[in-house]
Amino acid sequence: MADSFDLIVIGAGPGGYVCAIRAAQLGLKVACVEKRETLGGTCLNIGCIPSKALLQSSENFDEIAHKFADHGITVEGIKLDLARMQARKGEVVSANVKGVEFLFRKNKVTWLKGAGKIVSAGKVEVAGTTYETKNIVIATGSESVPLRGVEVDEKQVVTSTGALELPAVPKHLVVIGAGVIGLELGSVWRRLGAEVTVIEFLDRILPGMDNEVAKQFERVLSKQGFKFQLGHKVTGATKSETGVTLTVEPAKGGEAQSIQADVVLVAIGRRPYVEGLGLDTAGVALDERGRVKTDHHFATNVPGIYAIGDVIAGPMLAHKAEDEGVAIAEILAGQHGHVNYAAIPGVVYTWPEVASVGATEEELKAAGTAYKVGKFPFTANGRARAMGDTDGFAKILADKATDRVLGAHILGPDAGALIAEMVTAVEFGASAEDVARICHAHPTLSEAVKEAALAVDGRALHI
Ligand code: FAD
Ligand code: NAI
Repeated sequence: MADSFDLIVIGAGPGGYVCAIRAAQLGLKVACVEKRETLGGTCLNIGCIPSKALLQSSENFDEIAHKFADHGITVEGIKLDLARMQARKGEVVSANVKGVEFLFRKNKVTWLKGAGKIVSAGKVEVAGTTYETKNIVIATGSESVPLRGVEVDEKQVVTSTGALELPAVPKHLVVIGAGVIGLELGSVWRRLGAEVTVIEFLDRILPGMDNEVAKQFERVLSKQGFKFQLGHKVTGATKSETGVTLTVEPAKGGEAQSIQADVVLVAIGRRPYVEGLGLDTAGVALDERGRVKTDHHFATNVPGIYAIGDVIAGPMLAHKAEDEGVAIAEILAGQHGHVNYAAIPGVVYTWPEVASVGATEEELKAAGTAYKVGKFPFTANGRARAMGDTDGFAKILADKATDRVLGAHILGPDAGALIAEMVTAVEFGASAEDVARICHAHPTLSEAVKEAALAVDGRALHI
């Protein structure tokens, strides 16, 4: 007789593995099904972690090659050892995924190895064995969206997965989609010497981010050598031994042109992954975009079956998936788990970084909300000057009547770390005045955030 559980989680990405650990901490008997050879999901294996390892390595390379001279440091004979860089990335991933395995052992979470299929509420089949469980959490994540006419082979035409594994720096990398993946992985290969052209359907980069930030970011990336073809779409790709010829057309129609690339990265978004999960037979409903439909407590339409992470609505981010994992574990243990979707940060880990929380200026305008804006450029921040990293600015949006912080957007050095303060402000319902009156250490980049808060009422001190 197979084991039975209080909870079976399907998928061991940041949503699933965190859910399993939290549920086990709360005393539930938990199993987590994962079909990949290692735990950690997209994020640890082929997403957040390997991309950040390569972003760090390529930034180090770029700094030595292009920024050190300005500091009076001359380094001669700089050489790229891409094989070592890739091996290091593998070591970083390996340490992280093994860490999750250790946490499973420590918390007594059973890893059921193989593909999980929901037979019905209360029954999950893995590798020919059916396990009984009181509850099921679906955390099967997402996969990249394919582009018609541009067939992925993960060598010449790659998704993010192939773009993390390139064995040589391409001479010309064409990125389709100016979203987070395109700009992060485009940065990696640009810094290592590739010519990078980004073709984007819309007339802007990073849709969803504050427009003013996106515009300045586009200028900064252009200065770094990125070429943008906005308002264009790729309608076909022909591969040959020497490269890929792309057919590109204006998004609104017009004459087609050809672009020659060594490698093409397709990064036009991700979609929920539910293949082979048995949702049809279990009767679990999907929404119009193929996401598992859930209520505010992560419940699907089938009692006893829940879903979290990339496979449901909301931003496809690891920390959103993790917080949902904790919330559903607490709900299943009889507590009151909750996620505040108004306070989920988004970070693009380029250099400079882009970070954001809460509403953009465009969203406030569309909602008819009266607001005030405070902005402060990093050119006026002493630490940024000392670092030689003055591109960008901090921007805070506050309610015109109450001064409550509604959104914060930062383009600049370490923006991803700086946004944490503003996430706390949004979570606690702070006013811009509250942030402005907090003592910030000098000289730090965080003073730019304080000055932006002061600027909301026109009283920034250093500009
Ligand atoms: P996933 O991490 O996708 O995990 C789902 C797991 O379920 C997978 O391991 C899969 O093998 C398994 N699975 C699926 N079906 C079954 C089945 N039937 N049986 C058993 N197992 C199954 N987010 C950030 O917040 N920050 C970043 O810096 C960041 N960088 C990224 C970089 C890249 C290149 C990519 C592609 C994504 C990045 N993301 C980032 C997004 C992040 O990876 C996802 O939001 C996150 O992984 C979602 O977690 P999840 O648990 O919902 O699903
Ligand atoms: P994305 O949604 O961020 O960007 C896709 C871009 O492609 C958009 O700008 C879109 O307008 C454009 N596009 C769509 N169809 C197109 C077409 N036919 N031709 C040209 N352009 C087209 O998606 P992306 O970059 O693939 O990333 C997927 C998800 O992964 C993100 O939504 C994000 O949630 C997650 N991610 C998060 C990271 C982070 O937090 N730092 C890093 C990487 C990924």
